[in-house]
Amino acid sequence: MSKYTIEVSNLVKRYGNFEAVKGISFNVNKGEIFGFLGPNGAGKTTTVHILTTIIDKTSGDAYVCGYDVSKQKEKVRENIGIVFQDPSLDDRLTGYENLDFHAMIYGINKEYRRKRIKEALEMVELEDKADTLVMYYSGGMKRRLEIARGLLNQPEVLFLDEPTVGLDVQTRRHILDYIKALRDRYKMTIFLTTHYIEEADYLCDRIAIIDHGKIIALDTPENLKKSIGGDTLSLTLKHKSDIKIILNALSRLDVIEDVKVENNSIYLILKDASSNIVDIMNIAYNKNVAIEKVEIRRPSLEDVFIHYTGRSIREEEGSNLDRIRMRLRAGMR
Ligand SMILES: Nc1ncnc2c1ncn2[C@@H]1O[C@H](COP(=O)(O)OP(=O)(O)OP(=O)(O)O)[C@@H](O)[C@H]1O
Ligand SMILES: [Mg+2]
Repeated sequence: MSKYTIEVSNLVKRYGNFEAVKGISFNVNKGEIFGFLGPNGAGKTTTVHILTTIIDKTSGDAYVCGYDVSKQKEKVRENIGIVFQDPSLDDRLTGYENLDFHAMIYGINKEYRRKRIKEALEMVELEDKADTLVMYYSGGMKRRLEIARGLLNQPEVLFLDEPTVGLDVQTRRHILDYIKALRDRYKMTIFLTTHYIEEADYLCDRIAIIDHGKIIALDTPENLKKSIGGDTLSLTLKHKSDIKIILNALSRLDVIEDVKVENNSIYLILKDASSNIVDIMNIAYNKNVAIEKVEIRRPSLEDVFIHYTGRSIREEEGSNLDRIRMRLRAGMR
C-alpha cells in the first residue's frame, strides 16, 4: 500500500474536446491539510469530483487511501467525506433530520446513527440547533452542518470544495478553525479547494497553485514565498552615525543579497531572514550599535501567485458567482 493518502499522477479530464485538467500529479500525506488554490475555472472542483468518484477521469491514475478511484469506487467512498461547493441541504428538514437522512443513505445502522450525529453536531457546535429547520440557519451554520454531514461516516479524508466561499470574514475564520481542529484531534487528512489566498496561507500545510488545469507550483506556504525571492530585514538604528559601522560589519555575511539605506534605516534583502536574524543582531551588539526597531517583511502568497501566473487572483474575480452562491446558501431561492 502506498504511503500517501492521496496519490495522483498525470490526471487528465476532458469535457468533449476541452481539457479541464491537464495531466496533474501530486501526493497528499496522512494528516495533512492540502490546499488547491486557483481562480474560477482552474479545475479544482473537477479534480475533487474525480477523487471522490463523482465523475470519471479521462486518463492518468488516482488513488485515495490506497484505492483506485475508478476501479474501487465503493472502497473510496467508505473512506471519504465530502462537502460540496454548492449547497446541498434540505431547507425543509431540521439539522438533525438532514444528517439522519444522509446517514441512512450511507447505511449507518440505527444505534450508531444517533451517536454519530451527536458527535458530528458537537464538532461544529450546532448541538443546540439540531431541531431547528435549516431554512432558519445562517449561511455559516449551513456550512457547518454540511461539514458535520461530511463527518458522519468517520472518514479518513475529508474533501472540502470552497468551504468558506461567500461567507463573511469572521464566519470564515470560524470554519477554518473547525477544519484545523479536525486534523489536530482526529488526524484526519483534509483536501480543500479555495480561491482565497489568506485562507490557503492560514490553513494549509502545503498548497498546490492550479491555473488552467495545471499545477504551476506546489510547496509549503513558507517555501512558496521563499521560492520567489528574498525577505526584507529592516534595521532602524538609534544613531545615524552607526550606519557605516554596521554596514562594514555585515559585509562579511554572505547571505545578504542586497542592501539599501534610507535615513537611519538599513534594508537587507536575504533569502531567509528568520534564520539569520540572530547573527545579524549579534554583529550589531558586538559593535555597540543600538537598534531601535527590527522588521521582517516576507513576500506574500499573493506575490507568489502573481509570480507564477503573471496576474493576481483577485477576490473580485469570482465575486458575481460568489454572490449567487451566497444567496443560494442563505436560502433565498
Ligand atoms: N460538466 C462540464 N462540462 C463542460 N465543461 C465543464 C464541466 N464542468 C466543468 N467544466 C469546465 O472545466 C473547467 C474547470 O471547472 P471547475 O469547476 O473544475 O473549476 P474550479 O476551479 O472549481 O472553479 P470555481 O473556482 O469557479 O469553482 C471550467 O472551464 C469549466 O467551465
Ligand atoms: Mg469549483
